[in-house]
Amino acid sequence: MTGTRLIMLAVMGLAYASLSVAANDLARGAEVFNGTCIACHGSDGSGNLPGVPDLTGSKGLLSTKDAVLLKRMVDGFQSPGSPMAMPPRGGDPGLTDADLKAVLKYMRKEFKIAP
Ligand code: HEC
Repeated sequence: MTGTRLIMLAVMGLAYASLSVAANDLARGAEVFNGTCIACHGSDGSGNLPGVPDLTGSKGLLSTKDAVLLKRMVDGFQSPGSPMAMPPRGGDPGLTDADLKAVLKYMRKEFKIAP
């Protein structure tokens, strides 16, 4: 009896912990996006400057795999003929890989792309 209750408490605690990690990620993602990425990508992700692609829509660029997008965000990226490059880490070397993962999660949610 007591054993079962302890296990249930432990399971509830774990569920709570993973929920709050997800919420923290989104909050951090929003902070990073609004602090750095918004300058070029715009608050709605559709792009503010010539050469910045529209990231919105379920079939848009954000439907590319995580690993590919993360590499492009970390290293920077310029497609052939594009007038502007995506700077490494959005131009902020202080952003960690975890920050970039968080911002990817935020963009997918905010710009209407399934996780
Ligand atoms: C100085 C402007 C600028 C900033 C700041 C910037 N980007 Fe970009 N980003 C670009 C441009 C330009 C491209 C398109 C590059 C190309 O296709 O040649 C791009 C492309 C992308 C792409 C699509 C990559 C693909 O597969 O085509 C993602 C995702 C992205 N940026 C995420 C971010 C994130 C996250 C941040 C903030 C941490 C950020 N960007 C900050 C200019 C910027």
